[in-house]
Amino acid sequence: MTNERLALREMLKDKMRKTVDLAQTAQSRGEPMPPLQKPLPEDIPLIRLPDWQHNVGELQLPFSELVAARKSVRKYAPRPLTMHELSYLLWATQGVRKVRDDKSAWRNVPSAGNRHALETYLAVRDVTGLEAGIYLYRPLEHALVFLYTPDDYTDQFAKAVYRQLFVAKAPCSFIWTTIPWRMEWRYSEASVKVIALDAGHVCQNLYMAAQSTGLGVCGIAAYDQELMDALVQVDGTDEFVIYLASVGHVQA
Ligand SMILES: Cc1cc2nc3c(=O)[nH]c(=O)nc-3n(C[C@H](O)[C@H](O)[C@H](O)COP(=O)(O)O)c2cc1C
Repeated sequence: MTNERLALREMLKDKMRKTVDLAQTAQSRGEPMPPLQKPLPEDIPLIRLPDWQHNVGELQLPFSELVAARKSVRKYAPRPLTMHELSYLLWATQGVRKVRDDKSAWRNVPSAGNRHALETYLAVRDVTGLEAGIYLYRPLEHALVFLYTPDDYTDQFAKAVYRQLFVAKAPCSFIWTTIPWRMEWRYSEASVKVIALDAGHVCQNLYMAAQSTGLGVCGIAAYDQELMDALVQVDGTDEFVIYLASVGHVQA
């Protein structure tokens, strides 16, 4: 066993709390709390997402049936996602249910210390009413911000997912980045493991929400870090991609 592999394994253990002085974290030292979501210019246009209630079908299946039926789906029907479906999936994965004093926001997924150090980008190819391109979800406003449409979109995306073409051609992909400081402010070096755990919760909610409404998902951890960071225009240090998932209607 190499020392490098042993060191990586250590990241999966909760040893940090015994080695990190939690009394010396940025929060304990009184540094300002990071914002609840990524700061953007105030005048940036928001695309409000519609109320999804009553507009997505088949939500009545018993939970046990959803669990039993869940599987990774890599073949999508040539059919666009609707804005209601997208709204529902974003609500299920990162929707905000309660805000207190602009300091804490509880979302529909759990997060270590309620820090929610994740951002959701969308690679939209075929969603009714949306131009193809890269979007950022605003959980506090339940809205989208259009960022840009990449040149050679499909080719660039395909390279960034090591030519997993079903991802590059899916109607929509969720691309989760982390802004580690949001977690590190409270947990210092102990943040790494819990950020990864948080991402798993988010993608599982995507799987289950999709399953409940006739959509299919495939979680994707095989991607080129630099190319994917470039696709969503993040710096790769203070914010970088950690996970993604493709979504589409299940091919009958
Ligand atoms: C963390 C994670 C990463 C994954 N990465 C990929 C991937 O890059 N490409 C892919 O085709 N499937 C990927 N999958 C899907 C798995 O291959 C799939 O979950 C597994 O084969 C079990 O199938 P099931 O999801 O239908 O139960 C990933 C799943 C998880 C949870």
